[in-house]
Parts: sequence; C-alpha cells; structure tokens
Amino acid sequence: MTTVALVTGASRGIGRSAARALAKAGYHVIAVARSQKALEGLDDEIRKAGGASSLVPMDLKDYDAIDRLGGVIYERWGKLDALFANAGLLGDLMTVADAQPKMFEETFATNVLANQRLIRSMDRLLRGASPPGRALFVTSSVAQAPRPFWSAYGASKAALESMAMSYAQEVGFTGVRVNILDPGATRSVMRAKAFPGEDPMTLKSPDDVAPLVVELLSPEGARHAERVRYDG
Ligand SMILES: NC(=O)c1ccc[n+]([C@@H]2O[C@H](COP(=O)([O-])OP(=O)(O)OC[C@H]3O[C@@H](n4cnc5c(N)ncnc54)[C@H](OP(=O)(O)O)[C@@H]3O)[C@@H](O)[C@H]2O)c1
Repeated sequence: MTTVALVTGASRGIGRSAARALAKAGYHVIAVARSQKALEGLDDEIRKAGGASSLVPMDLKDYDAIDRLGGVIYERWGKLDALFANAGLLGDLMTVADAQPKMFEETFATNVLANQRLIRSMDRLLRGASPPGRALFVTSSVAQAPRPFWSAYGASKAALESMAMSYAQEVGFTGVRVNILDPGATRSVMRAKAFPGEDPMTLKSPDDVAPLVVELLSPEGARHAERVRYDG
C-alpha cells in the first residue's frame, strides 16, 4: 500500500531536502510550494532516485486551495500518513511600531492561518491512515525567546507552536502523533535574508535536518506533543 506524505515549502531549503528524504524512505510525496519550476526540479530528483511525487504549485494563502487539496488526497488515497508543515515566511525584520501591517498579515497568514487550514483539511486523512498519521510543524527559537525586530516572525511562530500543541492534545486519543521541530540555524534562502553578512558555509545544510524529519514522521515514531530541537 502506498504511504503518502504532504510537504509544504518543498521547493527549496529544509522542505526540499525533507521531500527527497521522504521519497527515498518510500513515501509518495505531495510537494507544495508556489514555484512550479523548482517543484519540477524536485520531481526530477525524486524520480531519478526511484521515488514518486505529485506536484501542487499553489500559494498557501489561498485557503480554499488547501481545502481542495484535502479533497483530492481523499479521492486518491483516502488517507495521509505524514504531514510536514514546513513552509514559512520570515517577513521583514523591523520594530513592531514601524512594521507594515500588510507584512505582518502576510507573515501570520503563511505561518499560522495556512497551517490551521492544513490541520482542518488533513485531520480526517491523518486519522484515516493505518497506523494513524504523523504531523510535524516547523518553528524557530525566536518563538520562545523574543528578539527586537523579529516580532512578525517570532509572534507567528509562537502562535503556530501554541496551535500545534492544542492540536496534539486534541488528537492524542486517535493515535495521530503531532510534534514541533526547531531546526536551528540552517543554510537557506530565509536564513540568508535574516543574516546577510553570515558565511552560509558555516551552517549545516538542509540535508542534515532531513533524517530527523523522516524519523519524527515515521509510523514507528512514538513521540507526541514534543518540541524537538535539532542538535546534530
Ligand atoms: N533556515 C533556518 O535557519 C531556520 C531556522 C528556524 C526555523 N526555520 C523554519 O524552517 C522552515 C523552512 O525554512 P527554510 O529555511 O527552508 O526557508 P526557505 O528556503 O525560505 O523555504 C521556505 C519554503 O516555504 C515556501 N513558502 C513560503 N511561502 C509560501 C506560500 N505562501 N505558499 C506556498 N509555499 C510557501 C517556499 O516556497 P515558494 O517560495 O516556492 O512558495 C519555500 O519552499 C520555515 O518554517 C522556517 O521558519 C528555518
């Protein structure tokens, strides 16, 4: 029977590495991001390695599209074994007082509201998997340690953590397992935007994080309602 994993933010960075690793581990990967070209590149990589994927080029702020995706997954597989809710937006680093409301809204829409819609659409599919599915949400250290200029990102990740932990407690009895991952500093487009002066080669690669993602999403994984920090 096909095992199915949905990965958001699969076009680059941590999501792309995790998508490749999940495909290698035998999952059919449903890869979500806005950049169609990058998703096609991912599909090539997965296919060359003997895996399979379905590409879903979409903006996660299109909440109705998330609902439609849930319907398509239900029609095709009737279940979801793994949800890697990884897509995220840094927003602009500026003071709360100066931050553009539109930027704040977009950061919350991507990091929080889209994930609520994902949970809403995928919950029954996760419960329908056998064993019940696993969900993993991606946070950041700034969620629990607020810093000046990081309010949009930090507050949105704090909200995401709280929401994911509520969800974990709500589904504990179903066997669905829900955790949060703080990957720590990782070489990516987002990290380079946040720390433009940093030498990216001093950071770990997204490929270093991917095995932990596969482990936390594995059907054997018993961890639940934990905030897991990558520590090498
Ligand atoms: N890198 C780090 O040091 C670090 C540290 C802590 C936490 N994190 C978290 O790790 C996760 C992955 O980040 P990353 O570092 O790999 O960043 P990244 O390279 O910027 O990747 C972000 C991914 O999210 C997707 N995305 C963003 N907005 C989207 C939208 N509206 N609709 C659909 N997809 C969207 C992007 O795809 P498109 O642009 O193609 O849509 C891209 O695939 C994020 O949640 C981030 O907050 C990263």
